[in-house]
Amino acid sequence: MIGDILPPWVVVAERFDDVPEDSLFPEEEPLIARAVEKRRREFVTGRYCARTALARLGVPPGPILRGERGAPQWPSGTIGSITHCAGYRAAAVATSTSGITIGIDAEPGGPLPDGVLETVASPEEIATLGRFRDEDPRVNWDRILFSAKESVYKAWFPLTGRWLDFTEAVVDIEPSGEFTATLLISDPRMGTDRLTGRWIVASGLLATAIALPRVAPERHRSG
Ligand SMILES: CC(C)(COP(=O)(O)OP(=O)(O)OC[C@H]1O[C@@H](n2cnc3c(N)ncnc32)[C@H](O)[C@@H]1OP(=O)(O)O)[C@@H](O)C(=O)NCCC(=O)NCCS
Repeated sequence: MIGDILPPWVVVAERFDDVPEDSLFPEEEPLIARAVEKRRREFVTGRYCARTALARLGVPPGPILRGERGAPQWPSGTIGSITHCAGYRAAAVATSTSGITIGIDAEPGGPLPDGVLETVASPEEIATLGRFRDEDPRVNWDRILFSAKESVYKAWFPLTGRWLDFTEAVVDIEPSGEFTATLLISDPRMGTDRLTGRWIVASGLLATAIALPRVAPERHRSG
């Protein structure tokens, strides 16, 4: 699913079920030692997806530890992002010569719980969603906006090491399946204040993804 909204230089592994429990490295066990079963399963399968995707880049299996504020510590020379929600786990990785940063997020397909939208979206963003809802009420536009903002954070944090509040990026969703995030705070490590991404609704789930290339997309296309 999420591979459909990422460019070819990003390698994806995803699962709609969980893997057997024995695939963690000993160094990863302390990260999950006190977790409840549900959390343990998503962590194990998320790491499994990450190692599967990294293997396709030629990276041998190894522990993926947790860095500052929960960000995965990717092997040297690689970048990536992990997401999990009920019924879905995925990892997206690339070489750091291909890309600058990646952020992916998957969510259950239903609407956001009451009251959440108002805490993550501006009145302008909410008004835009209202227009989209009038045009196509089958799509949970509020959940797409929420997910897009989480993808923005996952792309932002590994580069900057800084918190980014939901109010610090304005996300414009396009009904065609794209979105643009305008960052309201700048950081030189980011190199841009605009991130573009894509969204998809499929299999009762939705997902968003951002992949910032190191070179212009045309160069990637022409090889
Ligand atoms: C970190 C956050 C984005 C995770 O999203 P989520 O929907 O709760 O959970 P997901 O399953 O999609 O993603 C969890 C994975 O994200 C990754 N992650 C966690 N913190 C991260 C960070 N600071 N940077 C990058 N990736 C991070 C981890 O791999 C984690 O899985 P793991 O713990 O099993 O390794 C969310 O919990 C959060 O803190 N959001 C607030 C910040 C924000 O979104 N701001 C919006 C800016 S516009």
